[in-house]
Formats: sequence, structure tokens, C-alpha cells
Amino acid sequence: SSIPVLTIDGPSGSGKGTISRLVAQRLGWHYLDSGALYRAVGVAAGWADLDLADPAALVRCAFDTHIGFRDDERGELRVLVNEVDATDELRTETAGAAASAIAAIPEVRAALKDRQRAFRQAPGLVADGRDMGTVIFPDAPFKVFLTASADERAERRYKQLKDKGVSVTLDGLLREILARDARDAQRSVAPLRPAEDAVRIDTTGLGIDTVVEQVLALLPAR
Ligand code: C5P
Repeated sequence: SSIPVLTIDGPSGSGKGTISRLVAQRLGWHYLDSGALYRAVGVAAGWADLDLADPAALVRCAFDTHIGFRDDERGELRVLVNEVDATDELRTETAGAAASAIAAIPEVRAALKDRQRAFRQAPGLVADGRDMGTVIFPDAPFKVFLTASADERAERRYKQLKDKGVSVTLDGLLREILARDARDAQRSVAPLRPAEDAVRIDTTGLGIDTVVEQVLALLPAR
């Protein structure tokens, strides 16, 4: 495809979501939050009371779950799971852990592949996830891998969740983040790793605007 894609991969809390959305806005490109797809399947599986240890049921769930995105009046991305607004539920650590568990099933990843590629539409796409540059859009002309120290990532998540009124402890979050990182990096299918041609940016101690500018600087001046 000649439609340009900028992939932004990295672990949870690396700032991917925030940075990707801002960069997409600045470029006037489409935005894919691929993690939301895995979270949506995890949440749908929870609603249907499916067993997280039953891969066949989860694969069916991945095929059957309708996942829609829309911007609300405030410009925030809302995610609809089977036509129900599940945005807030999707952001919980429970949904993240369920997503990470089902994301390790190869057939679930395959079920979501075409849906992700369908986001590649003119004038361009910013795609945020774990395997955007390695598996979903290997031919993307622009690839970034964002990292940050685990402590800083836990603190960012802590602030985000506290702002939303979710009660969590920093310590608990750090442990959950490390566990999820380990699972995402060690799984045999599409493990979290930088594409060979990805530019790595360590965002520890950097402000959002600085990272946005560093990412935009990778694209040709318009
Ligand atoms: O990015 P986010 O934290 O929303 O992703 C939730 C989980 O979904 C991750 O921990 C990972 O296991 C999975 N995921 C994935 N591949 C992606 C995006 C997310 O495996 N492209």
C-alpha cells in the first residue's frame, strides 16, 4: 500500500497512547489503538463469562465481537463493544490483564489482523500497539519504539487512574506492569520487541510535547 503508516510500539505506560493520538491529530491522519481491540475482546469475554483458559471460545469471541470507535463531543475516543460504550471499563487493569492473556493466543491475533489493517486509509495512519511495526504493518515507512523506566510508567498509570477516581496503589501497579511486560515480551507469538528499523525513544523524564516533536521530526517536512 502507498498509504503511509507511522507505527508506535512499546510497553504499557510508555506514553504510546497519548503520543500517538497527538501525532495523529497534528498530521491529520487516522489513529488505531490496537490495544483497545484486545481489551474489547477481553471485556466481551468477561461479559459472556467465558473461561480465559478456553482458547476456542475466546477465538470465537474475537471473531464475533463488534468493536466500534467514535470521537465524543470533547474529542475523546470512545470505544463501543457490541454497541455498548465500554471506554471506562476498557481502561481498567483487569481489562488490561485479560487483554494480555487473550493476546497470547495466535488465532485471536489472526482474527484481529484484517480489522487492524483496514485502518490504513488516506491520508495516513498512526498505529499504536505492541506489534504494529513487526507484524501488522511491517512495510510501514515510519516506525517508533517508545520506552520508559518501569517506575515512571507505573507513576504515569497511577496518575491517570487516580484522575479517573480509580483506587489503586503505586506498588500494586508496578507489579502488574512488570508482570504484563514479561508476559508480552515472552510470548511466542508477536512478542513485544522493537522492529529492526524502528527509532527508539526513551521517554523517561521527557514531557509529552518533547516526545511529540521528536516523533514528528522523523517524518519529512510538509
Ligand atoms: O496497549 P494496551 O495496554 O491497551 O494493550 C493491552 C494488552 O493488549 C497488552 O498488554 C498486550 O498484551 C495486548 N496487545 C497486543 N498487541 C497489540 C496491542 C495490545 O498484544 N498490538
